[in-house]
Amino acid sequence: MLITLHNILDRDRLQNLRSMLAGGQFIDGAASAGANARQVKHNEELAGNQKQRQYLDQMIVSSLAANENFRSAALAHRVSQPVFARYTTGMAYGDHIDDPVMGDGGGRFRVDLALTLFISDSADYDGGELIINTTFGNQQVKLAAGDAVLYPASSLHRVNTVNRGERLVAVCWIQSLIRDPARRELLFELDQARGALRATSPRSPQSAQIDHVYTNLVRMWSEL
Ligand code: NI
Repeated sequence: MLITLHNILDRDRLQNLRSMLAGGQFIDGAASAGANARQVKHNEELAGNQKQRQYLDQMIVSSLAANENFRSAALAHRVSQPVFARYTTGMAYGDHIDDPVMGDGGGRFRVDLALTLFISDSADYDGGELIINTTFGNQQVKLAAGDAVLYPASSLHRVNTVNRGERLVAVCWIQSLIRDPARRELLFELDQARGALRATSPRSPQSAQIDHVYTNLVRMWSEL
């Protein structure tokens, strides 16, 4: 399932982020790819100094944590540091799947979900669509600046060649509390019904019942 998350970053944060990235140092993205992905990866990634990285990481991670739909859809156990990727004209990332496990030592985590956050305005570049292979065929994703898409890290995906301008995105990987995508989707759906009931009839027994079921399903299915 692909989930679009709107307004992860507001105007001020976007402006701030873009001006920091404009002055940042980018290096060949192939360096961070696995052996197979390296063959098809043609982009650049922010190197940046440690202080700048910390600031930017914090901006992205706190913006995600503040978004109700992200919290509900991902049920995140771990969120990786974001990678800030830049595609200038002619760059692309061919078909690949993301690594199953990332991080070192005690920071190792299973990669259940990938998230691409769009930083460039979509009118400022041509091409550069994220193409995700799903059970319903290929889905083409190119979102407004500040929006993000959440998708299974297990899916084959690519980034089309940028034909004009520059595509800036932040990419994060997530270990979910709920490993099974089918269970995670059911919980997302149930949580939406729970939210609607809370809004319309917060004191009803049905609202309390749905809340009880949701909470205990998360407890039953969580893996830490
Ligand atoms: Ni990928």
